[in-house]
Amino acid sequence: MNTNGPMLGPDEIERAANRLEGSPPEATLTWALQTFGARVSLASSFGAEDMCLLDMLCALTDKPRVFYLDTGLLFPETYTLIERCRERYGLQAIRLTPLLTVEEQAETLGPELWKRAPDRCCGIRKVEPLTHFLRTEAAWITGIRRDQTPARARARVVEPDEKFGLVKINPLVRWTHEDVWGYIRTRDVPYNPLHERGYPSIGCWPCTAPVLAGEDPRSGRWQGMDKTECGLHQ
Ligand code: ADX
Ligand code: SF4
Repeated sequence: MNTNGPMLGPDEIERAANRLEGSPPEATLTWALQTFGARVSLASSFGAEDMCLLDMLCALTDKPRVFYLDTGLLFPETYTLIERCRERYGLQAIRLTPLLTVEEQAETLGPELWKRAPDRCCGIRKVEPLTHFLRTEAAWITGIRRDQTPARARARVVEPDEKFGLVKINPLVRWTHEDVWGYIRTRDVPYNPLHERGYPSIGCWPCTAPVLAGEDPRSGRWQGMDKTECGLHQ
């Protein structure tokens, strides 16, 4: 259980969620910064949603706290985008890495663990580093949207995160794909060029395939497997 930073009780979380439900994402981010200060950070995969949140955050504070889970298996385009964010926003993103490098994982557990045991692979490369990092945070911000998956349809703007023991803030829950891309075009926000090559949702390269127009945008993730989440979101 996370004991750092200001803790909000369930009633306060519920009140904030109700109050912010109809507010623009910027209002939610402002509330997050006022409430949690340096104990709140944005989880960024540098996907389209997270780029919107990064752009908003940088307009609200000159000290945005942004972290990313560097599995060692992100697309080259994603690493290039991280570099562009440094140039455009002066962003010094916090890079979280797994205990094992990809090579060490292959030596210990065999090559291409993602093909045989993707939950184990996500556990090592994403969930463990995230769990460790969130222990000293009071709240984290994510780019999930309600229309992405049935489980995410229940997400609140502000909610208790039982799994990681802190407050979870989802400023874009009410946004659609069109809202995201409208914001990116209007504000000329940098984005991953893979989005224009059939990748609406981008994760690690071994587990992300392009999708055809009209297909479920998340169907390219863990294709052919009975897996839809990597363990970051309940
Ligand atoms: S996933 O669970 O399937 O990988 P998705 O790609 O939809 O998630 O991203 C949802 C949100 O999870 C992102 O908006 C971001 O807040 C967080 N997230 C996903 N991948 C990462 C990552 N590599 N580093 C940090 N945050 C991430
Ligand atoms: Fe491993 Fe695939 Fe999970 Fe990345 S998304 S950590 S490669 S199983």
